[in-house]
Amino acid sequence: MSLVIDNIGQLVTNDPALGQGPLGLVENASVVIENGLVTAVGPAGQNADQAIDAAGACVLPGFVDSHTHLVFAGDRAQEFTTRMAGQTYDGGGIRLTTQATRTATDDQLRALAAARMQEARQGGTTTVEIKSGYGLNVADEARILRLAAEFTEDTTFLGAHLLPAEYADRADDYIDLVCGDMLTACAPHAKWIDAFCETGAFDADQCRTVLTAGRAAGLGLRLHGNQLGHGPGVQLAVEMGCASVDHCTYLSDTDIDALANSDTVATFLPATDFSTRQPYPDGRRVLDAGATVALATNCNPGSSYTTSMSFCIALAVRDLNLTMEEAIQAATVGGAAALQHTDVGRLTIGSAGHAVVLNAPSYHHLAYRPGIPLIAEVVV
Ligand code: NIG
Repeated sequence: MSLVIDNIGQLVTNDPALGQGPLGLVENASVVIENGLVTAVGPAGQNADQAIDAAGACVLPGFVDSHTHLVFAGDRAQEFTTRMAGQTYDGGGIRLTTQATRTATDDQLRALAAARMQEARQGGTTTVEIKSGYGLNVADEARILRLAAEFTEDTTFLGAHLLPAEYADRADDYIDLVCGDMLTACAPHAKWIDAFCETGAFDADQCRTVLTAGRAAGLGLRLHGNQLGHGPGVQLAVEMGCASVDHCTYLSDTDIDALANSDTVATFLPATDFSTRQPYPDGRRVLDAGATVALATNCNPGSSYTTSMSFCIALAVRDLNLTMEEAIQAATVGGAAALQHTDVGRLTIGSAGHAVVLNAPSYHHLAYRPGIPLIAEVVV
């Protein structure tokens, strides 16, 4: 079965060999997809079994959201409200979500995650990573990952998200559990392992222990770091060769140098900084230093309850000082790099046929018209 997206006014390929500039822009274009893969990028008017008429609008690769926590139960709207009234975010609400998630049935968690996946898809996200981290015991961490694997191949074991209440003052015992029985139960359902390296969560030595155990179990490495203040997260992520270090809200010059001289992607989560009233990171400095940058939603009930990559793009342009083109790249090929995928985030011959048709003539509208649902059609 073949499909053509025809009459594209502005096509973003992310392949400079196919078109103009870093986004590889082609005007008056069409894209042919056969058996899920892009087989032709050319002028408008190519043929296929089925056709979508873009009617002169902009078409982009589907967004790659490389950081979410989509499997959870419970609501923390009140926590957001108190934060807007001046309360500081410290991550402690993770325990509330853990309570609610532990008591939810599989069917309830599945339905909640499916609704969030549908919302993300309607917003143009075609590749998504999902972390555990709201089980914090062996059975519930494994259960969350098993459910997450129903939605994506990019599942991440985040047992080291926060110390659960029953392990208060026994952090070393909990790290032993994460690296032992919990990892054994979770690894079959996970591709990645992650840890929250932050004051109040886990320190660099504890995170190194978790990542080392995860690597030995065959998992790829990722890290939450430098979210709530300066700290060792970025340096540790680079030392361990993590695919990505996520948040990067507080970066020193040394952190930026380390990122620039590594293959570790700096993933910004600006909707989190929005929702927690943290300062925005200076993405410009990180890009100018030569690091690879991604944008992701961090969809979770506490610090960032949004699946909207368009919102993240708008924030990145407005507040992280990325150009429009850099923000689009960060939300597509940047996310792909953070997940070490080469087949998504681009519309080039042989890549996955994941495309977004905008209800707008150019990609600029994604930041120019914030809050407006501009995704007309999503092709997967
Ligand atoms: O990335 N930083 C740790 N984890 C999430 C927060 C989760 C929560 O508050 O429930 C984050 O912001």
